[in-house]
Amino acid sequence: MYESANVSDDADRTAFRRAEKKYKLYYEKDSKFSRRKKLPKPIDLSELLDFKLISQDFNNNGVLPDGIRVSKVDSSPVFCIENRPGFYFIPGALSLEEQCKWIKESLTNFPQPPNRTNHNAIYGPIADLFDSAKDNKVLVQEDLTNNKWKFYEEDDIAKAKQSSCKSVSASVLLRKLRWSTLGLQFDWSKRNYDVSLPHNNIPDALCQLAKTHAAIAMPDGEEFRPEGAIVNYFGIGDTLGGHLDDMEADWSKPIVSMSLGCKAIFLLGGKSKDDPPHAMYLRSGDVVLMAGEARECFHGVPRIFTDEKNAEIGALESELSHESGHFFTEYIKTSRININIRQVF
Ligand code: OGA
Ligand code: MN
Repeated sequence: MYESANVSDDADRTAFRRAEKKYKLYYEKDSKFSRRKKLPKPIDLSELLDFKLISQDFNNNGVLPDGIRVSKVDSSPVFCIENRPGFYFIPGALSLEEQCKWIKESLTNFPQPPNRTNHNAIYGPIADLFDSAKDNKVLVQEDLTNNKWKFYEEDDIAKAKQSSCKSVSASVLLRKLRWSTLGLQFDWSKRNYDVSLPHNNIPDALCQLAKTHAAIAMPDGEEFRPEGAIVNYFGIGDTLGGHLDDMEADWSKPIVSMSLGCKAIFLLGGKSKDDPPHAMYLRSGDVVLMAGEARECFHGVPRIFTDEKNAEIGALESELSHESGHFFTEYIKTSRININIRQVF
């Protein structure tokens, strides 16, 4: 993933790093129940931009906080930050139904080969990870020389597994899924697109959604071409360090970024890590666009909220559970998924 530079070295050196540290999840001992129970350390949330509240205030009273503008009022308003041109925030852009659809796709279809995931490097392509986790299957290394792995039912493991075989349960692999790539495959080791890798096009419905939301940040008369997408999966304590997405050819084109699942904190810095970042909430269903100058701004996700009170996914959970059983619900209760869609050329 995006490694922030040596963490201990520059821990406090830049404004961006200080903000990451301020919002990151730390645990502390619970003084009341001192039996080694650890609780998340409380953090100061007073400086966070909350576009849900900003949107409510704008709709009810027509007022906006200093430094925030409304770019266009259609069915739902799109907010901009005065000193970050090219950044757009569309609160609640996705309906509950759409959120459910993309959560399910992100867990079932998006990690399917030829799409690559973070597991490729170790296990090679893995098909049907989500279903295998649901069925309590275990991935067993069958062929050491060619590094071939195969899923087995729990009951068949003893038969399949020679004593020296390595194995890992599908549910552990699902928990450790950190990214998958759609369309043109991004090669994380080279931090570049590898057009020689086999790939499928991004699904039509996702392209359409991206085009619709991208329109507001597109030059007049041009249509956004979704060519590659990165799906990020965040579990408890996972973060995305401050980075730039600089491997696409034309930065005037937006990155369309959709949030699903648990609420998160997003940091939007400036062109230097010394610029103090804006911190804001990202909730399930929010869409963010980064185009033009905002493409040159460092950004990251220092925190996701997985506790019931702060995750703000009650409605999503009930929609998911009566739609498609509890496996998706159980996953999303402590997870966040981000799908970001890019025009590469
Ligand atoms: C990215 C990214 C932001 C998010 O994947 O490049 O910036 O909200 N993701 O997870
Ligand atoms: Mn990014």
